[in-house]
Amino acid sequence: MHFLVTGHTGFKGAWLSLILASRGHDVSGIALDPLPGGVFERAQVTEVLRDDLRIDIRDAQALKDAVTGVGADVVLHLAAQPLVRESYRIPRETYETNAMGTYNVLEAIAATPQTQADVIITTDKVYRNVGQLEGYVESDSLGGDDPYSASKAMADILTQSWVKSFPGVPTAIARAGNVIGGGDVSKDRLVVDLVNGFASGEPVHIRMPDAVRPWQHVLDCLSGYLSVADALLAGEGTGAWNFGPDPGDAHTVRELADTGTAWWGDGAAWVDDSGDHPHEAALLTLDPTKAQTAFGWRNAVPFPASLEWTLQWEKAVRGGADARQATLDQINAFISLTADAPWLGRF
Ligand SMILES: NC(=O)c1ccc[n+]([C@@H]2O[C@H](COP(=O)([O-])OP(=O)(O)OC[C@H]3O[C@@H](n4cnc5c(N)ncnc54)[C@H](O)[C@@H]3O)[C@@H](O)[C@H]2O)c1
Repeated sequence: MHFLVTGHTGFKGAWLSLILASRGHDVSGIALDPLPGGVFERAQVTEVLRDDLRIDIRDAQALKDAVTGVGADVVLHLAAQPLVRESYRIPRETYETNAMGTYNVLEAIAATPQTQADVIITTDKVYRNVGQLEGYVESDSLGGDDPYSASKAMADILTQSWVKSFPGVPTAIARAGNVIGGGDVSKDRLVVDLVNGFASGEPVHIRMPDAVRPWQHVLDCLSGYLSVADALLAGEGTGAWNFGPDPGDAHTVRELADTGTAWWGDGAAWVDDSGDHPHEAALLTLDPTKAQTAFGWRNAVPFPASLEWTLQWEKAVRGGADARQATLDQINAFISLTADAPWLGRF
């Protein structure tokens, strides 16, 4: 099967491309150039790709030409400006990329006769945050106070509208939470900051130690996306799907930082830097019951293993281990853990 991954040069996209290629599929990608030092570059993911295209998804015509040219069976749309704090700095670019970029992707897919299914990736932050303790379910209202959350809620709503207005290629929406894993180099992500601090011997400044987050290993998130793609190919699975740990498995930033410093050792430390920072949602968890019931999907690497896998990858690769092999080793370990998972049957 031939997969097109948008955002393949990013953190999740690079892992996804390696999973699919390691299972014998053709993988093509559309994205901007990778950030230096990330998993795409370190694991030399470009070598496993059929087409590695660098196109801005805001350019509708160039994107349509590329998507129709690739002619993939399945499209997974991950390309986005994915950072809340960055969205305050570049709100227009965030809206254009996340909202209209998604529109352009849907339009390009509609012009591609080979495509049988597509999964549009949004986020847990699409939910209108009413501070509830229970996890959000797929039918809860969407909203978004900061430009990133609003732009992804727009992408989510426009996809729902697209499906109703222009039915054609089976389409689903996947919403996941705070994903962690080796080789993420994005700005302002807690685990990235922690690892960089640990590696340099500097104490890490933490903005919101009491915020609760549903940490999830990247492989669990991606197995969710592939479960949806699998269902779409079987004629089911349209609509929106949450992929997160069980709501009881959400943890505070403080807990994660403490666990990380203890695991890393070597003088790793963090300091509380609560202060005057741009607004970020304080409490947000997802209820994944719908995907668990429909697909038999489960989070297989619960906290703190999800953090340990991440730190193991970083420590090994920063210590000179082969990044492609480190990534494939974790993919294979994950596949053994989820040997009876339905998505593996097809992929
Ligand atoms: N990492 C998380 O914790 C998390 C949580 C929820 C949702 N998400 C979503 O998952 C997806 C992937 O996130 P990630 O963490 O891998 O982000 P990332 O920043 O590592 O990767 C983003 C990718 O999008 C591409 N991209 C950005 N702007 C583009 C443009 N204008 N045209 C073409 N490509 C463009 C980049 O080149 C890169 O390949 C995003 O849609 C993000 O919103 C991520």
